[in-house]
Amino acid sequence: MKYTETKFDNKTILITGGAGFIGSNLAFYFQKNYPLTNIVIFDSFRNEKYLNNGSLLSLGHYKNLIGFSGDIICGNINNKDDLNRLDTYNFDYIFHQAAISDTRVYNQEIIMQTNVNSFFDILNIAKRDNALLVYASSAATYGSEPSPQTVGKENPENPYGFSKCMMDKIAFRFSGENPDMRIIGLKYFNVFGPGEYFKGKTSSMVIQLGHQILDGNPPRLFHDSNKISRDFIYIQDAIQANIKACASEFNGTYNVGTGISRNFQEISDILQKELGTDLGTEYFSNPYKGYQMNTQADISLTQKNLGFKPNFSLEKGIKAYIPEIFRLHGEDIA
Ligand SMILES: NC(=O)c1ccc[n+]([C@@H]2O[C@H](COP(=O)([O-])OP(=O)(O)OC[C@H]3O[C@@H](n4cnc5c(N)ncnc54)[C@H](O)[C@@H]3O)[C@@H](O)[C@H]2O)c1
Repeated sequence: MKYTETKFDNKTILITGGAGFIGSNLAFYFQKNYPLTNIVIFDSFRNEKYLNNGSLLSLGHYKNLIGFSGDIICGNINNKDDLNRLDTYNFDYIFHQAAISDTRVYNQEIIMQTNVNSFFDILNIAKRDNALLVYASSAATYGSEPSPQTVGKENPENPYGFSKCMMDKIAFRFSGENPDMRIIGLKYFNVFGPGEYFKGKTSSMVIQLGHQILDGNPPRLFHDSNKISRDFIYIQDAIQANIKACASEFNGTYNVGTGISRNFQEISDILQKELGTDLGTEYFSNPYKGYQMNTQADISLTQKNLGFKPNFSLEKGIKAYIPEIFRLHGEDIA
């Protein structure tokens, strides 16, 4: 589906983090809808390095890219020599997704290096090539600010949220210093859909609960899950936001959510309805202190400046996702 009139054919597009969830969906969106685009993916892919919380250092996976026919550059965004490999291209658009995307990583050094330091390099590549830059920010920049979360009222409460908040500030300053540049940040809320499976324990609750149900087990939820809610946004709507950002004349950072908050119990109930099961629910105590109880994006500015209009309710998104949840059940994640 083409969301705008932008002519991407024959353009050269860089997608950092293109072996990950959102990046690989972007790559296939262009490959399918604009077959004449030159798509370049830069990603470190997964290696066998683990962080102090037990997560993999990088989550990209070749299986997200089966069928992709553009260029792939395997490189570390923190390494200048790897980034130099991008010098042979002249990019028209850059979608910067590469990051430590796990909100529960507490190694501050590696997060700031990967998410913040490298951003200066990406901004300079965009400046050099006169490319439009869309980068991934996050709802984690808001911490526990009350709903609806509104751009300009950030209060990050973990290193990841802080890193994304710093990216927003750097982008704002860089935009001011380079008024001809087009730089748009997208603060994703909880994105779910095909392509996230290889994020493992950082994938959305939708696929994790879906696979618990397909295992024949009752879905496991925190106590009082009907009081814990998030703004869940289907991947196709996240892609829509990226495409619409390319057609907007307004630099800035924008929330990408549905504007509607849905609770964890609802996800479980919708999944059981779609999968035709009645397994009940297994409740357990929430181990996390300071857990965010509610997120709901204020998308008024996104609607106004980007023309963004989410097409998927939680129900519609889960329904569209079910075949993929079945397909990946039991798939080797390594
Ligand atoms: N999925 C969500 O719900 C969500 C919400 C808010 C923000 N975001 C942001 O959106 C972007 C994409 O998220 P995602 O869900 O696709 O995550 P992801 O982890 O699937 O994708 C990130 C990609 O970056 C790559 N990467 C990590 N470190 C790298 C490095 N040093 N050099 C090169 N590549 C590296 C990984 O291999 C991975 O492919 C991230 O910036 C993330 O922080 C995502």
